[in-house]
This record gives sequence, structure tokens and C-alpha cells, in this order.
Amino acid sequence: MSSTICLGIESTAHTFGIGIVDSSGKILANVIKAFTTEKGGIIPGEAAEHHVEVCDEAIREALGSAGIGIRDVGLVAFSRGPGMGHCLRVGAFAARTLSLHNKIPIIGVNHCISHLEIGRLLTPAKDPVLLYVSGANTQVISFEGGRYRVMGETLDIGVGNFLDVFARHIGIGFPGGPKVEQLASKSSSYVELPYVVKGMDVSFGGLLTNLKQKFDSKKFSREDLCFSLQETAFAMLLEVSERALAHCGKNELLLGGGVACNKRLQEMARVMCEERKAKLFVPDDRKVLVDNGAMIAWTGLLMHKAGMRMGIEETAIRPYERTDDVEVKWR
Ligand code: ATP
Ligand code: FE2
Repeated sequence: MSSTICLGIESTAHTFGIGIVDSSGKILANVIKAFTTEKGGIIPGEAAEHHVEVCDEAIREALGSAGIGIRDVGLVAFSRGPGMGHCLRVGAFAARTLSLHNKIPIIGVNHCISHLEIGRLLTPAKDPVLLYVSGANTQVISFEGGRYRVMGETLDIGVGNFLDVFARHIGIGFPGGPKVEQLASKSSSYVELPYVVKGMDVSFGGLLTNLKQKFDSKKFSREDLCFSLQETAFAMLLEVSERALAHCGKNELLLGGGVACNKRLQEMARVMCEERKAKLFVPDDRKVLVDNGAMIAWTGLLMHKAGMRMGIEETAIRPYERTDDVEVKWR
């Protein structure tokens, strides 16, 4: 069987990524261009404008580092959702242009599922429960009854946004996750915080308000608050992950999303897994944990190999696509 090379485009939020992967799963390029702001949240129109600006350069850079030309590309994949409409449209437009202009088949991919598929490619995990923790998303995903199901999720903000908002509030800048992690490592004294798990879901809104109030009261150090924040928020995430493992009868936990870079989260996950004789998997390349094009390319290849095809008229973006809306023919 001849090998297919797929070019994958990621543009659900502030990252514009181009990944190039071959059908053996070799990542030939994974170019990431992230739009960042000094203060305030991300404005969809501005992120989309960034994506338009870097698009050509990212494609050229990716082809260059893969050492191939566009003629060698046999499939174009793009993330069709969920995400911000403005941003998704740029990636979809680029994908359609490449496809039509060069007569390459095109396929739209679910962003959340691709975080799980890249983990299955790069670690020995076969049928893991995914704890997907990024800026906007916080979900526990498992393959059940022929579909990827969301077993639990945040009822309000994603854990990454929660970290970023708190970091901004205490004046340590953006992105907040790594800075909170750094400060947390300097403390080991726990300040009591609200712990909010509702059934299989978590909520960070009340925790965020409580933390801001504690900081404003000037009675607690940044270090102690960051330490306590991590212990609390990560325990909440791992409680629902553990329950998902038990409920689904699975013994592999996979971490994905930018917050999965956090060493304390990884350590707590490792302890939880050891206690229940499960295995923990964390891809060791930061670039495949955060939003990236390689995961989109690989998922596109899996779909294509399973015979899934899309006409150009079927490539509309799906900003609100649910994980369990996706038909999975490749497993
Ligand atoms: P999404 O995937 O939901 O569309 P995104 O583009 O924000 O959103 P990622 O690129 O996967 O997602 O992750 C970014 C988030 O990861 C930010 O909120 C950032 O603070 C967080 N993050 C990065 N490194 C760390 C770390 N070491 N500890 C905790 N959080 C981290
Ligand atoms: Fe993501």
C-alpha cells in the first residue's frame, strides 16, 4: 500500500498550526504559531486576523522542514470544531484552497478527539480515558459503544482559563499555567479552598472567586495560594478521571491539552493510577500536548484510511460540534 502524507491545519482558538504526518505515523513537521495578548482575554476577530497573517508562512515552513512540496501531500485535514467561528473559518478556508487548487482530498476533524488520537499514536496507550485539560476545554473522554463520549466536564470555565484569569489577577502575566506552577513549587502550606465536583463534572467559577478574594485580603502569599489552587483543582480533575476509569472498566489514563504540561498534575495522576493499578501516559513532547496541526493530520489519516471521505460542500465548520456527534469508523 502506498503511503499518504497528510497536511493538518489547526485553528480552533489562539493557535494556528500546520502539521505534516505520514501514514506510518511519523511526524514530519509540526509548526505552531500562537497568538498571545499581554492583557485581557482573546478577541476572536484578532486571533483570526493573526491566523490569516501567519497562514502562508506556516505552510511554507512546515513543507520546508518536512522536506516535501505540496505535490507530495495526499490529504488535507483541518479542525472543523469545536472552537471559535472566526478562527475555524481561517483554517477551513486554507484547507479548501489547498485542496481545490492542488486537487487533494480534504477531511474535517474533531479537535477534542484528535488530542486523544495523537496520544494513542505517540504512547503505548491502546484504549485510554483522556483527561483533556486546555484553556477552553476540560473534559474526560472515553471510547464507549462506538463513539467518543464525554464522561465528565467543566460546568463553567476550562481549567487553563481559570489558571490564566487567576494569574492575571495576581499580576504574574499570561499564560498563567506555567507561572502558577513555578510559584506553587515554592510552597507546601495548604490554604482551605472550595472543592467542587458535581457528579462527574467539575466547576472552577466559585474556586476562582474565592481565590481572588483571598488574594485581595492580603492575608495569603501568592505561593501558598498557587500551591493550594493546584492541589485543589487537580484533585477535582483526578477524582472524575478515576471515576471514569472505574465506570468504563479501563486501566489507562492519557493526559492531553496545555495544562497537561504541569508536572504536579502529572505526579498526582501517576499516584492515582498506581493506586488503582492503572497506567498513566503523557506524550513527552510539549508540542503535541498543546493545540497543534500534527494531531489534526494524524486523525485525518485515520479517518481517510477507514474510508471516510468529504466533498468540499461537506466541509462547513462546526463551532459547537460535540465529541459524541462524531461518527467513528476508524476504531
Ligand atoms: P483549547 O485547546 O481549549 O482550544 P488553548 O489553545 O488555550 O485552548 P492549549 O494550547 O492546549 O489550549 O493550552 C493552553 C493552556 O495551557 C493555557 O491556559 C496555559 O495556561 C496552560 N498551561 C500551559 N503550561 C502549563 C503548565 N505548566 N501548568 C498549567 N497550565 C499550563
Ligand atoms: Fe485543544
